[in-house]
Amino acid sequence: MGWMHWQRFRCLTDCVVYPDECISEKLFRDMADHLAADGYKDAGYVYIMIDDCWASKERTNDSKLQPDPQRFPSGIKALADYIHAKGLKFGMYADYGTKTCAGYPGSLDYLEKDAQTFAEWDVDYLKFDGCYSEVATMDMGYTLMGKFLNETGRPIVYSCSWPAYEEPLGIHSNYTKLAEICNLWRNWDDIDDAWSSVTSILEWFSTNQARFADSAGPGHWNDPDMLIIGNYGLSYEQAKAQMAIWAIMAAPLIMSVDLRTIEANFKEIILNKDIIAINQDKLGIQGRFILKRDKIDIWTRPISPIIDGDHTYAIGLLSNRIDGYPYRVNFTLAELNLKHKSGYTIKDVYASTVINTLVKPDDVIYQKVKPSGCVLLTATPVENISVTSLK
Ligand code: DGJ
Repeated sequence: MGWMHWQRFRCLTDCVVYPDECISEKLFRDMADHLAADGYKDAGYVYIMIDDCWASKERTNDSKLQPDPQRFPSGIKALADYIHAKGLKFGMYADYGTKTCAGYPGSLDYLEKDAQTFAEWDVDYLKFDGCYSEVATMDMGYTLMGKFLNETGRPIVYSCSWPAYEEPLGIHSNYTKLAEICNLWRNWDDIDDAWSSVTSILEWFSTNQARFADSAGPGHWNDPDMLIIGNYGLSYEQAKAQMAIWAIMAAPLIMSVDLRTIEANFKEIILNKDIIAINQDKLGIQGRFILKRDKIDIWTRPISPIIDGDHTYAIGLLSNRIDGYPYRVNFTLAELNLKHKSGYTIKDVYASTVINTLVKPDDVIYQKVKPSGCVLLTATPVENISVTSLK
């Protein structure tokens, strides 16, 4: 969980036109201040991550990466120190190819050197992008970079982008290997500031989930890309929906929003403790799309606690409808493969209320879902009385 600059601030390098928004040490210090002071850190968002466009166009005489001197006059180590002093962690960005996507120096001939430089700068997280590289060599190259990062002796979370370059070419990535080498990996397209971008990512994830959902687990996650909550493109209901489905997908929660100006209602979504708890559930099982009914997508995720051998579930009802009223969908828990015989207690997570204390697997549940909105429920197994009394 953390904050990354790309989706909101892209490659803004003109600090004259955009003094407060350009990719500079000021931006990251500002965001670190807000992450630490405004409740995000306490909620679990601890990483501040730089994306592309931080570097100078030239390496140093001894071939090291270096930051742009105008925008990062104090250097990267000083920025890392500032972030660490706030009890936060620090992430950086590099690219496996000859150049980064925005044209800054790539790491291709410098993997070991760059790994060492990041460790010297006390980096805790590396996003390793894949522009300007041979897709056929990525699997080998990313493995090598992982080895060099490990050899520095510094624990560095390793975010790999190689599936996001293979999958669009129709190549099925090797998720078993990804889970061994990387801590998280971007599977698919970049997110943009629009609901259509969220839904197209979800469409791809639900269509292809059988190939990679099981590769997720503690220490190795599928990454559908950043949260765009609080920016320009999502309504309040759509923002709630992104948060809910990202929680069900066990996705990394990486915000990309201006924390200096975010509106209170969006901040509340990002800080919702019950949804964060679903996202961070200790079992680390990734949820799945289960079925579509009347243009409402139903997603489920097994979470803790397990009661009498059956999981609790998070259930997301995501509306793809555009007719303007909250549509009443119906389903049974059995249809979602929830079959605990003594039934479940159902809670509406956003409303923070128990809506039904006992629903049996074959009982019909009716639930209203707003257009392009989401209802997030939990279903907790009701303890089987006869089992309890035998204990
Ligand atoms: C492509 C990545 O997928 C994005 O998230 C971002 O890192 C850009 N490259 C930066 O150029």
